Amino acid sequence: MKLLLAPIQGVTIAEYRNSYDKFFGGFDGYYAPFISPTTKEETHPSFFNDVLPEVNSNTLSLVPQLLGNDGNNFRDYAATIVNMGYKEINWNIGCSFSIVTKKKKGAGILPHPDMIKRVLDEVCKDTNYDLTVKMRLGMNHTDEGIKVIESLNDYPLSGVMIHARTGIQQYNGHVDLDAFQTLYSKSKHKMTYNGDIYTYEDYKKIQNRFPELDSFMLGRGALIDPFLASTIKGDDIPTDQKLKIITSFHHAIYNHYKKNKPRENHFLNKMKEFWTYTHVHLDPENQFIKRIRLSQTNEAYLKVVKEILKDTNQWIEKM
Ligand SMILES: Cc1cc2nc3c(=O)[nH]c(=O)nc-3n(C[C@H](O)[C@H](O)[C@H](O)COP(=O)(O)O)c2cc1C
Repeated sequence: MKLLLAPIQGVTIAEYRNSYDKFFGGFDGYYAPFISPTTKEETHPSFFNDVLPEVNSNTLSLVPQLLGNDGNNFRDYAATIVNMGYKEINWNIGCSFSIVTKKKKGAGILPHPDMIKRVLDEVCKDTNYDLTVKMRLGMNHTDEGIKVIESLNDYPLSGVMIHARTGIQQYNGHVDLDAFQTLYSKSKHKMTYNGDIYTYEDYKKIQNRFPELDSFMLGRGALIDPFLASTIKGDDIPTDQKLKIITSFHHAIYNHYKKNKPRENHFLNKMKEFWTYTHVHLDPENQFIKRIRLSQTNEAYLKVVKEILKDTNQWIEKM
């Protein structure tokens, strides 16, 4: 069974992935947040910063991801990425941010299978890497997703990941397992399930329903509980060790942003984003996260962090 860390733009950056793999492990692969291909003239080398081999640990398996609906731009970016030594590239046709979907990119391309085919005709001309696709059930409804799956069946993909929601749902409501089943049954590609796995029981529920599925992608659940992937793999970390491990993880991310975001408000915003997920099992009453969000200075921030990470606090398993 394979577990993959989902990309979370702004959070699962190189330092996060490297530290995550070092302190928690449990994942077989990490998907980087999307890079948005542009024309050659508009491309800046910094677009690739997050996937540069020199900032990514070579002990983990990383897959860069591209957004977009232009086959030529995709090919140019893919060539740069392959030159860095990557073996797989993921195409994001699931992003639901309206700024993306209104340009018919991300989930916004799902109602247009002809556009998807045009992109893939160009991209698949001579791929020298494994191409995978991450999608949703559809933009508006599952009928769109069915047509997309049928189109994808015509191309030599190495896999399809489905976040079992529609684009218009964004992150609201529930995942739709019946709709996932329909798409899964129509796909000839290797399938990965994604969406709302927060606990071992959530994973088990999906696994019991789809016993032949052996690839799962975890996003927010794995950020909230970074021990989840190991637990699913049967490697339980004792509860009394968890606070210490989280502390080391925090310090690595803190030091990274402290060095790379010299403006205090930028740095604090990144740490606030980090704690949005990481606080949950340490902060049942949300008392610390409220104070972290109110911190205006590094000093105030560190004061709260010292309290949430003090050794009398403890990791709470069941939320
Ligand atoms: C803030 C945020 C940023 C995201 N960024 C990306 C991204 O860059 N690429 C992508 O394919 N999905 C992105 N996603 C979607 C996740 O990868 C994942 O598909 C989604 O959160 C559902 O999985 P989960 O319920 O396990 O979190 C993002 C989700 C969130 C909440």
